[in-house]
Amino acid sequence: MKFFVDTADVDAIRELNDLGMADGVTTNPSLILKSGRDILEVTREICGIVSGPVSAEVIATEAPAMIEEGRKLARIAPNIAVKVPLTWDGLKACKALSGEGHMVNVTLCFSAAQAILAAKAGATFVSPFIGRLDDINLDGMDLIADIRTIFDNYGFGTQILAASIRTVNHVTDAAKIGADVVTAPPGVLKQMAAHPLTDKGLATFLADWEKTGQKIL
Ligand code: E4P
Repeated sequence: MKFFVDTADVDAIRELNDLGMADGVTTNPSLILKSGRDILEVTREICGIVSGPVSAEVIATEAPAMIEEGRKLARIAPNIAVKVPLTWDGLKACKALSGEGHMVNVTLCFSAAQAILAAKAGATFVSPFIGRLDDINLDGMDLIADIRTIFDNYGFGTQILAASIRTVNHVTDAAKIGADVVTAPPGVLKQMAAHPLTDKGLATFLADWEKTGQKIL
């Protein structure tokens, strides 16, 4: 399973990349806003940190302009994945950009039907949004499972990129189902290391070590 980092925070990306935990990065307009930086500048910097795919999202809503924006974003670095929304125009842009050899991430996917269209349009990645489905009392994980089944039934090569990850359980559940990639905020990836029994066990070991009076260094 690949981990993408869902952020435009270069310090967080650098830390996770140094640990081998950043197989790629996803950004979106909200994350660019949060970074307070210019999209081209920050995306270029991210592409210099990670060698895997870095998703950068188009803003246009009509296919011709999406394609132009996608080409401009793709010129930033060879590891750019152009992110387009799962609309009819987004699918047209996906088909054109993937036909030109660019990686394309079709985002804002909320149904299996949409995911099939993304695969048919040649998407490199399709991004089902788990958390936002959970927010409206639907089961985001059911969607990941449905897409996995369908893609396996037909041998679609599009990678399932589980997105809108809010919890550690989202990561492990998506892994159990067989999502190809999970993109999660740095905080969720770090939280995966935490367990109360680890903390408790370590506290006991340290207390007992103190009693031995020994030193390693
Ligand atoms: C994915 O590429 C998106 O950037 C992201 O996962 C959206 O997550 P959110 O629903 O927490 O904003």
